[in-house]
Amino acid sequence: MGYARYFASLARGAGYSVAKGLALPAVRREAVQSGAHGMVYPVSTYSPWLTDAAFQRVYRAVRRNTLVDQWRCYELWTLLGELREIPGAVIEVGVWRGGSGALMAARCAELGISEPTFLCDTWTGMVKTGEVDIYYRDGKHDDTSKQIVEQLVRRMDLADRVQLLEGIFPDATGAAAEDHAFRLVHIDVDVYQSAFDVFEWAWPRLSAGGVVVFDDYGCPATPGIPRFVDEQRGLADRLVVHNLNGHALIVKR
Ligand SMILES: C[S@@+](CC[C@H](N)C(=O)[O-])C[C@H]1O[C@@H](n2cnc3c(N)ncnc32)[C@H](O)[C@@H]1O
Repeated sequence: MGYARYFASLARGAGYSVAKGLALPAVRREAVQSGAHGMVYPVSTYSPWLTDAAFQRVYRAVRRNTLVDQWRCYELWTLLGELREIPGAVIEVGVWRGGSGALMAARCAELGISEPTFLCDTWTGMVKTGEVDIYYRDGKHDDTSKQIVEQLVRRMDLADRVQLLEGIFPDATGAAAEDHAFRLVHIDVDVYQSAFDVFEWAWPRLSAGGVVVFDDYGCPATPGIPRFVDEQRGLADRLVVHNLNGHALIVKR
């Protein structure tokens, strides 16, 4: 990367961090007052996503369809490479406009993984918000549709690799995937009860060595996700990892 691009990226990142840090006490008061939230600034600089041409090509194709940033997308991308030899399909619950799901399906295509990628959403927004989910109401993230995702996967030539399951997961659509084993489960549902129900459904179907990725573990707006993930710590059959990009990973031993 040339100096001009480096400094432009530094200015953008610094500006974004300052704006976010200044706004946090106003828009996420409870998170700040809990004492468990502050801006995170890792000191490392190694950024392999910048030079991974295959990743960048796919990320450019999906980035307007996703709320998931480059760091978390790259983790999904690299994890699938690590899980190449683990048997099973891939499933995402919480698809919205399809960006992170299409990225995973594209990576499976590149790796020659023949099992399907299931993309599951109500496409009418959040469900099962409860007391712990203080910043969310049912229906949030309804600014999407199944057709938007269909268009994306068609455009990326992934339609034959992807199965779209429409409705509350697992209650309405779990049966359509229940006979599969899974290597990677991406849970991006924002609230405690949905995370709980999806995980309970997925865990017995996860292959040994497979991984469940929770989005929003580090997000101040989604306290239900760290609440649920932290309940999984200390259990003998799982390894829980907090990644500073905002993911939590649970690896099946
Ligand atoms: C933050 S968005 C997902 C973002 C997406 N992964 C991306 O790439 O931008 C959360 C989505 O979860 C969906 N959702 C939440 N709970 C669900 C459930 N139990 N079943 C199906 N969809 C659910 C919502 O409809 C919403 O579209």
